[in-house]
Amino acid sequence: MLEIADLTHTYGTGPTAHRAIDGLDLKVAEGDLLSIVGPSGCGKSTLLRSIAGLIKPTGGTIRIGGVPVTRTPDNLAVVFQDYSRSLFPWMSVADNVALPLRRRGMNAKQRRQAAAEALEQVGLAGAEGKYPWELSGGMQQRASIARALAYRPSLMLMDEPFGSVDAQTREDLEDLVLRVRGTHNMTILLITHDIDESVYVGDRVVVLSKAPATVVKELRVDLPAPRSRSPPASTRRSCTCAPRSAAWCAAG
Ligand SMILES: Nc1ncnc2c1ncn2[C@@H]1O[C@H](COP(=O)(O)OP(=O)(O)OP(=O)(O)O)[C@@H](O)[C@H]1O
Ligand SMILES: [Mg+2]
Repeated sequence: MLEIADLTHTYGTGPTAHRAIDGLDLKVAEGDLLSIVGPSGCGKSTLLRSIAGLIKPTGGTIRIGGVPVTRTPDNLAVVFQDYSRSLFPWMSVADNVALPLRRRGMNAKQRRQAAAEALEQVGLAGAEGKYPWELSGGMQQRASIARALAYRPSLMLMDEPFGSVDAQTREDLEDLVLRVRGTHNMTILLITHDIDESVYVGDRVVVLSKAPATVVKELRVDLPAPRSRSPPASTRRSCTCAPRSAAWCAAG
């Protein structure tokens, strides 16, 4: 589904140039849920923006379904790290969620219905008529996630999507991602700072180096699906981890 070969990106030129990504290789199979973890500032968002065709990398290739990325692919949705700049403040929440569906050739009624369903999935039923600035940060991020879900992309890129929500909502949204992935057969790339989250949600975890980013480790997560927040009984006996660490501990 996604093939990245020898990806390099440098911001600027001359003595102030900053190399954000250096010789990064990555392959993602269709239907995979890949977590990407790495230190702050290492180049994770740069990688995501390159895959989304929003910036042109200075070197290497990115192919989605065998096709080189030269602009934003049609079947792709992005949940941005900075939710406060990703929703249009002059549009209601429902209109924000429904906007990309015009590209799907849906009529107004279908768009409204799909937006209402997606908002309900993320726990925002009833917020359709509100404006983004009337919502809390976490609610705005949930609206951004609803917009991506409503679009039913084949590839969904999520850049630290749960960074601004409370712990309970975060767990609910992690489970939501796992559910939609199961029902919509999407390929998902999830960038996160949270190691527990990377393991709980991902089939595979890719660890990036500090800047400039390159892949330093890839781990397959052999936890059973559907995932459980409690570790298996055999692990539980000896495990003294906090509950959120259970997935990581169970993965060894
Ligand atoms: N438009 C830009 N122009 C110049 N430098 C940039 C630009 N965008 C990012 N950078 C720099 O590139 C590096 C990687 O940035 P990036 O946003 O990809 O990191 P990140 O891993 O997503 O960080 P975080 O975890 O804090 O979100 C940083 O040093 C940043 O300052
Ligand atoms: Mg980032």
